[in-house]
Amino acid sequence: MALTRRGLIGAALAAGPAAAAAGTSPDWAQVAAQYEVTAETIQLENGNWGMMARPVLAAYERHQRRVNRETSYYSRRGYGADLDRVRARAAAALGVSPDEIAFTRGATEALQALIGGYNRLRPGDAVLYADHDYDAMQTAMRWLKARRGVDVIAIDLPEPATHQGLIDAYAAALAAHPKVRMMLLTQVSHRNGLALPVAEITAMARARGVDVILDSAHAWGQLDFRLPDLGADFVGLNGHKWIGAPLGVGVLYIRKDRLGDIDPFMGEDRVPPDDVRSRVHSGTANMAAFLALNEALDFHETIGVTAKAARLTALQRTWTDPLRTVPGIDVLTPKDPRLVGAIGAFRLTGRTSEAANIALARRLLDQFGIFTVHRTGLARGACVRVTPALFTTEADVLKLVAAVREIARG
Ligand SMILES: Cc1ncc(COP(=O)(O)O)c(C=O)c1O
Repeated sequence: MALTRRGLIGAALAAGPAAAAAGTSPDWAQVAAQYEVTAETIQLENGNWGMMARPVLAAYERHQRRVNRETSYYSRRGYGADLDRVRARAAAALGVSPDEIAFTRGATEALQALIGGYNRLRPGDAVLYADHDYDAMQTAMRWLKARRGVDVIAIDLPEPATHQGLIDAYAAALAAHPKVRMMLLTQVSHRNGLALPVAEITAMARARGVDVILDSAHAWGQLDFRLPDLGADFVGLNGHKWIGAPLGVGVLYIRKDRLGDIDPFMGEDRVPPDDVRSRVHSGTANMAAFLALNEALDFHETIGVTAKAARLTALQRTWTDPLRTVPGIDVLTPKDPRLVGAIGAFRLTGRTSEAANIALARRLLDQFGIFTVHRTGLARGACVRVTPALFTTEADVLKLVAAVREIARG
């Protein structure tokens, strides 16, 4: 498991941290070469989940072969200690203590355990979520009506979004609904890539006695942050999106002194109640995937999250900036660097239906060979989401600009 960073990604990338320290960027062409990219299409739909870099894939295969070869001899004797090391590593990357996190199979499992397990709600209380939140989490929040007897408040976030406008939208909702005790917040929306001012909103909620359950599924590895910066006590994250771990790696975080506010998972009684791992129970999961999180973090940290976030945002701006001025195109992605990362979204002006955006994404693929995805669920209408990755080139993104210009001309 202990491959050195230099060994992992080779001499070319070993200059990464040094370059970062010197204020320069890694060579992105060399970073891109670490990915096995399909030539079939221009892949601008990297929000579903993230491709593993070659060294991570190689490590995953190695772990898988070992797990497969040694089966229970490994899982019952060696795996626990190996997993503890990865857990400590993941906690360090998040800026928290290892005993505040538990592994899950993804953000869904973590967030469902948090929403379902949050035990401070009483009948007559209220909970709050927004149109930008992930569908499965909205469902879980609505389910709290039957489970806990609470009212469920749903709000729409402003479009176009501004930093203060977003804070004001949550402030107004909490003022209008003083019985709200818990709210869901999504750090980076899967619908349009909007990055919320989480620290400000969380502080405001806390001042009103409202707890935040934070969905950081899309944030870990895409944005530059540590969990304590955000002030959230309950968080679900993904390793298989922007950290580039194999599919099936998520993290549940509960701040140590808040553990008592989440119930042990479905009456879990084999793990002690003061252990965060009693708050989720995944059963037998993909051991090799969790082990390879170590090498995914190696790769991620060698590039450096600051350089990575800057690169991803620059790729986003390479297409959003020129398209903002094109008549007939609405870019939903704010310019404000505090509100954005890799993901952007647009629609043709006035074309807000799901069907129109399915057709738009299909035309981009069929006519121009560019793969994107339509997203629904925003109060102001559907859109097409565009998500570059570390292997995306400026040329790829400029092809999107040319294609959208042509489509806009009619
Ligand atoms: C904002 C958000 N939350 C939660 C999830 C769920 O993540 P997973 O399906 O990996 O568990 C996703 C997945 O795309 C997401 O984008």
